[in-house]
Amino acid sequence: MKILLTGGAGFIGSALVRHLIADTSHEVCNVDKLTYSGNLKNLIGFDSGPRYQFHQVDICDRDAITTLLFDFQPDCVIHLAAESHVDRSIQSTAEFIETNILGTHCLLEVCLDYQKSLDAPGQAAFRFLHVSTDEVYGSLGEQGSFTESSPYKPNSPYSASKASADHLVRAWHVTYGLNCLTTNCSNNYGSHQHPEKLVPKTIINCILGEKIPIYGQGKQVRDWLFVNDHVNALMKVALEAPIGSDFNIGSRCERSNIELVQMICLQMSKLKPLRTGEYTDLIEFVSDRPGHDFRYAIDPGKIEKELDWKASTPIQRGIEETILWYLNNREWWESSI
Ligand SMILES: NC(=O)c1ccc[n+]([C@@H]2O[C@H](COP(=O)([O-])OP(=O)(O)OC[C@H]3O[C@@H](n4cnc5c(N)ncnc54)[C@H](O)[C@@H]3O)[C@@H](O)[C@H]2O)c1
Repeated sequence: MKILLTGGAGFIGSALVRHLIADTSHEVCNVDKLTYSGNLKNLIGFDSGPRYQFHQVDICDRDAITTLLFDFQPDCVIHLAAESHVDRSIQSTAEFIETNILGTHCLLEVCLDYQKSLDAPGQAAFRFLHVSTDEVYGSLGEQGSFTESSPYKPNSPYSASKASADHLVRAWHVTYGLNCLTTNCSNNYGSHQHPEKLVPKTIINCILGEKIPIYGQGKQVRDWLFVNDHVNALMKVALEAPIGSDFNIGSRCERSNIELVQMICLQMSKLKPLRTGEYTDLIEFVSDRPGHDFRYAIDPGKIEKELDWKASTPIQRGIEETILWYLNNREWWESSI
């Protein structure tokens, strides 16, 4: 297959490109604007063969996206490009509206033109997968979990922009017949994640001996998904899911922020023991994020049952692998902090 990805230089997108190049025979066209969170170093070793091409293009640039799509003639588009950091969305909203909403709108329009230009078998086979977040569902209390039919109640500018995009994708499917699919996943962790996010920030601050800031009392709960498990789920949905369907992706792995940070500190002390003190001594509670959602939890029952996908990486192993990557790739993260 020919797969056009947006955001393939970012954290999840680059994991997907590395998988596609290393483990499949698909052709890959990677379209990425290279914002502060996109990094072509994520693709070193996977970017030189004849099955891979890269284009530094903004998804809001309709002419450039049209040219790329009609030249490359993909069987499938996987849309990951986004502004992805909640804290940044609270500081400054414009890029979130532009990329996450208007950029998705632009892609939908061009993909619809492209789908219509194909012959009948090509039109039937074309697929557009929109990658979204569980944050669109808002916050849970102590009990329950998000299903595909949970109501949308986004609380941050980031989640509101992703929810808007999800609604546009649904409308382009129902109104215009674009062959859309949507996934909503929980918090990912793994290698190559920008140091601003909780897991890499904790690891890097342990390595540097700097304070580890935790919002509030660290009681917020997230459902942690290893990025390679997510990539496998995305490929299942992209290739096998019925057109027009939505899937929640999660690994039934809820941890409060403080539990997760303590787990990282414990693993760090095994992998890089301190001469004095404990990594947990670095933990510092700071004022809570405004509008901080208390709990997210995904019910992955639908994807487990209908697509026979299940997360396979236990969190201890995933965190260990992630820590080892940051320990061994200091030059990668030093340039981004
Ligand atoms: N990381 C998570 O835990 C998580 C959880 C749920 C959903 N998601 C979603 O998955 C997708 C990927 O997330 P990520 O963590 O890899 O993000 P990321 O910030 O690491 O990567 C985003 C990529 O998109 C590119 N990009 C940004 N604006 C662009 C534009 N206008 N045009 C073209 N490229 C642009 C960036 O350069 C970067 O390479 C996003 O849509 C995000 O909302 C992420």
